[in-house]
Amino acid sequence: MAIPRIIIFLCLSLVSFSVSADGGSAAHDELIKYGFPIGLLPSNVENYTINRTSGVFSIILRDSCRVTLPPDNYLATYSRKISGKIVENRIAELDGINVRAFFKWWGITGIKSNGQDLVFEVGVVSAKYPSKNFDISPLCEGTRSSS
Ligand SMILES: *[C@@H]1O[C@H](CO)[C@@H](O)[C@H](O)[C@H]1NC(C)=O
Ligand SMILES: *[C@@H]1O[C@H](CO)[C@@H](O)[C@H](O)[C@H]1NC(C)=O
Repeated sequence: MAIPRIIIFLCLSLVSFSVSADGGSAAHDELIKYGFPIGLLPSNVENYTINRTSGVFSIILRDSCRVTLPPDNYLATYSRKISGKIVENRIAELDGINVRAFFKWWGITGIKSNGQDLVFEVGVVSAKYPSKNFDISPLCEGTRSSS
């Protein structure tokens, strides 16, 4: 039964190769390094910069993006440019991610992680969700992805 095992191994390596060949995945790897799940960023990252001393980062998406966030199906939008400051388990001064709740759009200003949960901050209000809801990068919805 060695052959199926090899095939599975090859398939897995192909999968990981195609993931790492995607230009945006480096930004997702950074999230993991800082203690966050990759699902915080959509899959259409074009490029990013990060200053390792200050933690100041900026992410450019191929296009602005709209997603539905688990588990409560909040509508969220990502601007084409997202910026903020990241240190281990903490993102602050966040700009570029908005969620729709209570009939209004709110800018997410910060995100904290303790490994188990993520705490999203909207000004002084915060909401906690299990990190495992964000294990997969959301795909952008809508028709603007063709540009
Ligand atoms: C990302 O790429 C675009 C076009 O290739 C470029 O104009 C922009 O400056 C880059 N941004 C960053 C943060 O590297
Ligand atoms: C990175 O941040 C540090 C501390 O704020 C600053 O001194 C340095 O000039 C920054 N580096 C770049 C390349 O912007």
